[in-house]
Amino acid sequence: MDFKKHLDEKRLQVDGFLKDYLDSIDGVPEILHSAMEYSLFAGGKRLRPILLLSGCELCEGDPISAMPLACAVEMIHTYSLIHDDLPAMDNDDLRRGKPTNHRVFGEGNAILAGDGLLNSAFELMLGLRPLDGGRLDAVRTIAEAAGVSGMIGGQVLDLEYEGKKIQLDDLKEMHSKKTGALINGALVAGALTAGCSGQKLQSIRDFGQSLGIAFQIRDDILDVIGDREVMGKSVGSDYSGKKSTYVSLLGLKEAKAAVHRLAVRAKENLVGFGDSAGFLVWLTDYLVDREF
Ligand code: IPE
Ligand code: IPE
Ligand code: MG
Ligand code: MG
Ligand code: MG
Repeated sequence: MDFKKHLDEKRLQVDGFLKDYLDSIDGVPEILHSAMEYSLFAGGKRLRPILLLSGCELCEGDPISAMPLACAVEMIHTYSLIHDDLPAMDNDDLRRGKPTNHRVFGEGNAILAGDGLLNSAFELMLGLRPLDGGRLDAVRTIAEAAGVSGMIGGQVLDLEYEGKKIQLDDLKEMHSKKTGALINGALVAGALTAGCSGQKLQSIRDFGQSLGIAFQIRDDILDVIGDREVMGKSVGSDYSGKKSTYVSLLGLKEAKAAVHRLAVRAKENLVGFGDSAGFLVWLTDYLVDREF
């Protein structure tokens, strides 16, 4: 199987569904629609929806029925990035190679575009019929992952730790919440839509946990060594010594080693799935070596 082709195809499917869904929402003020659309179609990798679809497929579920949940997760992720870039948070001017949402639409509209994406994600998920069994559990998993003990909680820790000297364990907790939770939540939600449970579900959860942290460490590494052009964001802009990262705590060499250790640990959880985990094994390696 050509995994890169599979990844590109999934990304196009996600893009198509998101476009149709956004255009189907009635009565949205024009500026709000434009601000939501601007960030949603600014060139994201679509990692989280693809993980959700892959979690579903790994458990022999129907990816078409999981697509609305996958796209809802991407809307939640995009809202988190719009808010993350605000002057009150990371104060970034560039995201996905373009001026950040608040730079184009103003702070007020950027906050509301984020809120809009979050609410629309839940409208989309809660409009599914039938919404029973696995899909209901999946919606709850996504809500928790994005919520106060997950992504939002992690973003709060990120702010709280600014300018402080923190321990490695604090950093790990912050990473696993702010980034790991939604990555893991997407995978688990996908598996739940397919009715997955027991040891299989636990293995997927353990895989997602390691992958999520590895992903954020790579993000921190790219903030230091990444190519501005390739990444489309202002490298190092939010890490001018204010924030603790794996790189600032351990140094670049050890941070890189940590990513690779986590990738190995992540993949160990997929062994029991045999060949059907081929894409996720490939994706893990692809992500930990990513350049953007
Ligand atoms: C960036 O996530 C923010 C983090 C949580 C590390 P991605 O690297 O997945 O961003 P996009 O969606 O591809 O732009
Ligand atoms: C973003 O983390 C995490 C969330 C948006 C939840 P970062 O602040 O490290 O992400 P970038 O570097 O701006 O993409
Ligand atoms: Mg941030
Ligand atoms: Mg940021
Ligand atoms: Mg970063």
